[in-house]
Amino acid sequence: MNRRRMVAASLAAAGLAHLAKPRPLAAQGTALPLTPACEGDARVTRRQTEGPFFRPASPAKRDLRGDGSGDMLVLSGFVLTPQCRPVPGARVNLWHADADGEYDRSGFRFRGHQFTDDAGRYQFITRVPGLYPGRTRHFHVKVQAGRGPVLTTQLYFPDEPRNARDGIFDRALLMEIRPADGGRLGRFDFVIPA
Ligand SMILES: [Fe+2]
Repeated sequence: MNRRRMVAASLAAAGLAHLAKPRPLAAQGTALPLTPACEGDARVTRRQTEGPFFRPASPAKRDLRGDGSGDMLVLSGFVLTPQCRPVPGARVNLWHADADGEYDRSGFRFRGHQFTDDAGRYQFITRVPGLYPGRTRHFHVKVQAGRGPVLTTQLYFPDEPRNARDGIFDRALLMEIRPADGGRLGRFDFVIPA
């Protein structure tokens, strides 16, 4: 079995396990461990274009549920150094389309930033972004530690039919997505350059 199939099989198994025994999102949302799972070296997260809809000066906001409708999604993870050390106080900026695939071009719906906690963790509570022409489903993110370089990238959903046809889709940027009672749990750890 090749690695891709193994990853798919293990993700499917994890998804089934969670379908069989869902726990409320609210209870799982803060369930990120205190230490990252990786050991030794980690590969720096790949960069992607910020696209045409970035707006600077987003509000400090981690709960974006009130910005529109759609399925709830709790996105969490660590910000890490290439040596796999958590980075506290890193700025994580998220922006994405609403359920209709529209970006808020004049305001800050589905746009917000926060800083990682003492354990290097971030978490957003938001809605699943909708599709728009030419792209698969995705989040946009910028991550920055202090005044260091800004890592701009995008995050993707597994099992999206459009992934195969999206020219900039990168499977290295797939979130781990699990169904949960009331929505979905997304997980992605960012590794920023030293
Ligand atoms: Fe986009």
